[in-house]
Amino acid sequence: MESTLIGRAQGVYVNSQLDGKALYMVFSIVFTHGEFKGSTLEIQGSDIFAMKEREFGVVSGTGYFRFVKGYGIMETEFMDLPNLRATLKLNVTVKHY
Ligand SMILES: *[C@@H]1O[C@H](CO)[C@@H](O)[C@H](O)[C@H]1NC(C)=O
Repeated sequence: MESTLIGRAQGVYVNSQLDGKALYMVFSIVFTHGEFKGSTLEIQGSDIFAMKEREFGVVSGTGYFRFVKGYGIMETEFMDLPNLRATLKLNVTVKHY
């Protein structure tokens, strides 16, 4: 799939389940190009990564996204566990408060 880089995720994933099948994630989506350049979205929640689609919360944001809240659906497009790399697809819906 053709796509243009507009930003990257920056944050941490930690194991959150005894069987290792869930992660807890806290990260910022830092926009570096395009319409939202300089703004961020703040993502936080559990990631049961074996599920095809999982929902997560958007707790806040900065810049254009100040005072937003929302949710999103995440899908894994590519995962390279030994090298701790993955490409995720996020469909995010936010509302300004
Ligand atoms: C993204 O999520 C919204 C709301 O949850 C939904 O209406 C829309 O169809 C989704 N878009 C894609 C491309 O999946």
